[in-house]
Amino acid sequence: MKFLPTIVAMMMALCANAQERSEVVLNSWSFSRDGSEWQQVAVPHDWAISGPFDKRWDLQRVAIVQNGETEATEKSGRSGALPWIGEGCYRTTVDIDALPGFAELVFDGAMSEPTVYVNGRRAGYWAYGYNAFRVDCTEFLHRGSNAIEVRLKNVEESSRWYPGGGLYRPVCLLTAGKTHIDDWSLYIRTMSVNDGVAHVEAEGRVAGAQPDMTATMTLEGPDGSRTESDRLSIGADGKFYATFKVKDAQLWSPESPSLYRVVTKVIRNADGPRGGELVDSKTLKTGLRTVSVSREGGFRLNGISRKLKGVCLHHDLGPLGAAVNKAALIRQIRLMKEMGADAIRTSHNMPSTMQMEVCDSMGMMVMAESFDMWIYPKCKNGYARFFREWAERDITNLVLNHRNHPSIVMWSIGNEIPEQWSEEGRQISVRLQGLCHVLDPSRPVTQGMDRPDDAVRSGFAKVMDVPGFNYRVHKYDPNFPLLPQGFLLGSETASTISSRGVYKFPVVVSDHAVYPDGQCSSYDTEYCSWSNLPDEDFRMMDDRSWTIGQFVWTGIDYLGEPTPYDEYWPSRSSYFGICDLAGLPKDRYYLYRSQWNTREHTIHLLPHWTWPGREGEVTPVYCYTDYPEAELFVNGKSQGRIRKSIGENRNELSLDRYRLRWNEVRYEPGELKVVVYDADGRQAGEQTLCTAGKAARIRLQADRTSLQADGNDLVYVTVSLVDKKGNEVPTAADLMQFDVSGEGAFKCVCNGDATSLESFVEPQMHLFNGKLVVTVQAGQHEGTLTLRVTDKTNRRVKPAVMTMDVKK
Ligand code: GAL
Repeated sequence: MKFLPTIVAMMMALCANAQERSEVVLNSWSFSRDGSEWQQVAVPHDWAISGPFDKRWDLQRVAIVQNGETEATEKSGRSGALPWIGEGCYRTTVDIDALPGFAELVFDGAMSEPTVYVNGRRAGYWAYGYNAFRVDCTEFLHRGSNAIEVRLKNVEESSRWYPGGGLYRPVCLLTAGKTHIDDWSLYIRTMSVNDGVAHVEAEGRVAGAQPDMTATMTLEGPDGSRTESDRLSIGADGKFYATFKVKDAQLWSPESPSLYRVVTKVIRNADGPRGGELVDSKTLKTGLRTVSVSREGGFRLNGISRKLKGVCLHHDLGPLGAAVNKAALIRQIRLMKEMGADAIRTSHNMPSTMQMEVCDSMGMMVMAESFDMWIYPKCKNGYARFFREWAERDITNLVLNHRNHPSIVMWSIGNEIPEQWSEEGRQISVRLQGLCHVLDPSRPVTQGMDRPDDAVRSGFAKVMDVPGFNYRVHKYDPNFPLLPQGFLLGSETASTISSRGVYKFPVVVSDHAVYPDGQCSSYDTEYCSWSNLPDEDFRMMDDRSWTIGQFVWTGIDYLGEPTPYDEYWPSRSSYFGICDLAGLPKDRYYLYRSQWNTREHTIHLLPHWTWPGREGEVTPVYCYTDYPEAELFVNGKSQGRIRKSIGENRNELSLDRYRLRWNEVRYEPGELKVVVYDADGRQAGEQTLCTAGKAARIRLQADRTSLQADGNDLVYVTVSLVDKKGNEVPTAADLMQFDVSGEGAFKCVCNGDATSLESFVEPQMHLFNGKLVVTVQAGQHEGTLTLRVTDKTNRRVKPAVMTMDVKK
């Protein structure tokens, strides 16, 4: 039966004064895939994440050229095996009492090809699903109820990963008077910092400015300091400019992410009897800092050289899909910072504003990317369909939308663009980089190149501010002398593959290992034909003064691209992540932590020590630590005291340079213990792993102790089984069930198994290698919420209960 959508009316604040600026987030919509069945949804919303997983959603017969394939074969799960392909429609209404002088709908991204209708009339369209865009709807509104509709379309083979579907980022209605500040015209940049004084320049534009108007800008520091501009005249084109000398400038950096508030006001008749009338005002946050790249200093932040310790992140948030959520983004950034990372690359597309705000406030540098292809398609219906017509508009929106975020330290105009070898590619690079410079002269521009020889030969690499090579560390040395820049970025590195908690024997170093269970080994010795192990990248960062850092593929697993299992079903998410899809650290996390986290020590042993049936068999043991030396004991018997070593030939990879490895250990149940020594040979710490007994209870570990009663906040609870002594049971695969009561609700669950077809949105799931993460969402009211976890496989294990506060 057909039924009409229940439409939620948005009462707007502009009833009182239609000329006052107001920004209303439109989060309540009706949604339909087929135009007949409608459901109420909260935006951000991803129409595909609730599944079900099915091979048929994105089955392809293709050759993945980037991976060196020449013959087409059947591929499944490449874009997540979720139902994102097809059409969808969202509707909402907005009640308006008095018509504003100006109104625009601001989309932070809509997947994809959104067409926007206001009161039945086509008001706007954008082709690319990842970009922010604005639709001027002043002429389309009327008094009373206004219908807003967004139609979206995702075509097959338009993405190399899971893009999600729908209004997956916030939508906002901005209204103001006819004369108003154009939000994206505001631009604040730090020109220099000397003796603690920051020289800052700012500009903006007033739409509909009148001759009797002036502007003011004020910078408010984190310490309460205020630096005010003079009264600023507004030109005939509506533009105004300000300069500031900010004393005792609190500079932004990953270590100290200080933010300033910038308040811009437009005043009419400032000399009038009442000191002028406020026409419009806009507040934004920014940070003061300088960024530069040079032959002498490499990459510099605030004048200090540093090598970027970066990770690539795709936009999906695991079991939440593409729908952005602040708590989920905070968790990601916290996880990466604790590992010691100081930068992310938003591969391979425009980031959400929410993500950039989180990076600003938590201190994470960002390479903000734009495209995965230009004119030549990497997948049949990808962005190549739009590039010629849209590229400039897309770069413009990327830069204008995000240029005040201090976290962004460089723009990227592309990833592994097939045109690297050609003159045409070189010209496009010059054009797109030039456009970035015009809109934002303060940041360097890069792109990731996977064919270094071709890119250097064609001039493609030479024209970039920052030459970025993807993988192929053996190409660094021969190509570096041919590059004019004098430095090189590892724009994408590693692509080592592993599954959390899976260990394969014998341990092999391999670029093509596959196993019947669709998993990869966590000894961190497996990679792809085009990629390498983390140790190789560490070596290039340590031994080549001219490298300026790297972005590891990837910080966290993502939906789609299940290499090396593109032809294996079921397998629907990546193995590249340093953390799994649930955000649980794999062993590799500690390898990076041991190199990157310079504030805390790392001592991490692998594998786990519960191997019934392997008694007496060779079971290599690795320790990831920043300490140079350690001794390993099995049930008190020494397995040798060893030191990290560079190896005979410094230019060849030695796995013993960054890892401590005991390759001949024979398994016996009991206690595995490592004792580490510092550079002076002093005992510095230890770690012990014990063979686990039978599961005795459920352990719940939450990443938060209280939640905000905003209907969006999330808590992530890691669920594991432990024996009676508290040892985790690392092989447990029990089915766990979740019940949430009180001021919150079950949101989703994920166990990090790339081959699992269990739904993310059903309140039950099997543990994968002893663990999973359940996500609970706060309600709108104050109170408490209770999560109850029941082991459905083993009734002898008692349910575990956790209670949390939900506060306003
Ligand atoms: C790169 C590419 C990434 C991803 C990765 C997997 O070449 O830029 O998007 O496909 O390979 O290793």
